[in-house]
Amino acid sequence: MLYVGKHLISYFLSTFLFISGFNFSELSSLKKVFDSKFKVGVAINKNQIKQKKSKEVDLIKNQFSSLTAENVMKWEEIHPKKNKYNFKISDLIVSMAQENDQDLIGHTLVWHNQIPEWVTRNPDGSLVEKNKLFDNITQHISSVAGRYSGKIKGWDVVNEAILDDGSFRKNDFYNIAGEGYIFKSFEIAQKVDPSAELYYNDFSMYKPEKCDAAIVVANKIKDKGIRIDGIGLQAHWGLDYPTIDEIEQSIIKIYEAGYKVHFTELDIDVLPNLWEIEGADLSDNFKSNDELNPYRKHLPDSISNLLANRYSEIFDLFVKHSNKIERVTFWGLSDGHSWKNDWPAKGRTNYPLLFDKENEPKEAYHDILRRFGKK
Ligand code: GLA
Repeated sequence: MLYVGKHLISYFLSTFLFISGFNFSELSSLKKVFDSKFKVGVAINKNQIKQKKSKEVDLIKNQFSSLTAENVMKWEEIHPKKNKYNFKISDLIVSMAQENDQDLIGHTLVWHNQIPEWVTRNPDGSLVEKNKLFDNITQHISSVAGRYSGKIKGWDVVNEAILDDGSFRKNDFYNIAGEGYIFKSFEIAQKVDPSAELYYNDFSMYKPEKCDAAIVVANKIKDKGIRIDGIGLQAHWGLDYPTIDEIEQSIIKIYEAGYKVHFTELDIDVLPNLWEIEGADLSDNFKSNDELNPYRKHLPDSISNLLANRYSEIFDLFVKHSNKIERVTFWGLSDGHSWKNDWPAKGRTNYPLLFDKENEPKEAYHDILRRFGKK
């Protein structure tokens, strides 16, 4: 009886506030709501770093306690040629985070994607020798992580080295140096920025084989006397995958193995997944058509509700395990700029985040603030 009464009061109160145009987000924010639990982060693009649109800048400052550069710190952007670096925009995000008193996550030092060829290949296309690869990795990490030493909360040192079945991804790094490239990367990162936390980061970490393999790699890093602080679970998820139980098991496993848990790239795909693709393998790419792109103009209420419910159940889980989770970062600020509009099929209209393409809060955002804001 008491239970029903409490819910009725809360229902009438919310309805009243909704009708009277009351906006919870004016009073609160994601970072405030989860302040005592975990950091809430956002990945931002070049224009957002340059602070072009004030509405975006306000959201970034007011809603989030951690920033990640969506692209500008990736190898091809920051270090395109052996002796050429582009630090202009990455310097800007460093000062932006400092000015706003936000954590900054460095993303990412060693990853097989968005990387120039010279790192792993000779001019004739053959793989470079292991020594040469290690020189390149050492130079890269020393100059990039070294430049920002003391200013970065944590680095995604190695990204996506493991396949979903738990075996190593046979990328150029692996084909040249085996898993040694992972140890080398962490060793150098630890040396050049001793105060930064160091993470291994990957997608589909809810798959037990993959999660277990990441823990094995992390343990090997530690056994070599090299530091690794946390494991990043990217969290490119859908409305119906993974299950809450799968996510929960991965949180518990990583925590019990002694690593900090970071959800590093959260977004929820609402579009049909006719290929049963999970994760974020950028080599998957398909042509779009009407069946695959059903919500060109707007998101129907039924799907918007599903998205809000999905975010609620995910945040319920995060709150339940907030003693184990350090940070939850959204992969993008608002729907208009999300990479999910172009992957795994180009040119679709997706709705994966908490803010719409006009940078207005969506139902999912309001639900989260209502649910967790007043306890
Ligand atoms: C991976 C990477 C991110 C980003 C996404 C998709 O998850 O870690 O940097 O590139 O793919 O854009």
